[in-house]
Amino acid sequence: MGTGNQYARIGDAAPAFKAVTTQGDINFPADYKDSWVILFSHPADFTPVCTSEFMTFATMEEKFNKANCKLVGLSIDGLYSHIAWLRTIKEKIEYKGMKNVEVNFPLIEDITMEVAKKYGMIQPNEDSTKAVRAVFFIDPKGIIRTIIYYPLSLGRNFDELYRVIIALQAADEFGVATPADWYPGDDVIIGPAGSCGSAKDRMEDGDIDCKDWFFCTKKLDKDTVMDRVLKK
Ligand code: BEZ
Repeated sequence: MGTGNQYARIGDAAPAFKAVTTQGDINFPADYKDSWVILFSHPADFTPVCTSEFMTFATMEEKFNKANCKLVGLSIDGLYSHIAWLRTIKEKIEYKGMKNVEVNFPLIEDITMEVAKKYGMIQPNEDSTKAVRAVFFIDPKGIIRTIIYYPLSLGRNFDELYRVIIALQAADEFGVATPADWYPGDDVIIGPAGSCGSAKDRMEDGDIDCKDWFFCTKKLDKDTVMDRVLKK
């Protein structure tokens, strides 16, 4: 972790931990070498917003897995509560056309708050005993690449989480940045010109669209992005 900050931050190595989960013990992030991981927290089992989120995430899990991304959840609850809640979701809850939903990704028990504290998932002015809705995007080298926090009352947008995992991989694979509201198929941003000569060249390059010397985009079609991300 970076110096002088109690929380894990973007660019830090993901703090390591061992934990008990609904899918057995895990050694994090070592067990996830070569994959992207979304490590996310939720406030509590048997709560409605969290239930809607778990049903949505579980329904989308295969889509994330195809983008080389595994899911790992956490809350300040024990293993038996987790198991009972996930069984209830599968057996009893029908929501927005989703039913019989099985949560196959691991859900960490964190009664001691050890993991939640390492990751800054407890934000005491929101709640001192429940984790906020934190989302950590961790790359295959174990580096935290994006962090998003939501308060207890606000359910996450899982299409946005998918957009982030694709955009991060597109940036790595093609050496580009992604502009506001980018989706695969939209133009991407190329890095700033390093010299006056290259600034002039790129203004005149037909494949590059420069609004000004510092703001240049180029086409990157959707299939090219998705083929690269989904094949890894
Ligand atoms: C919920 O998931 O519904 C929830 C959890 C904690 C506080 C408020 C809502």
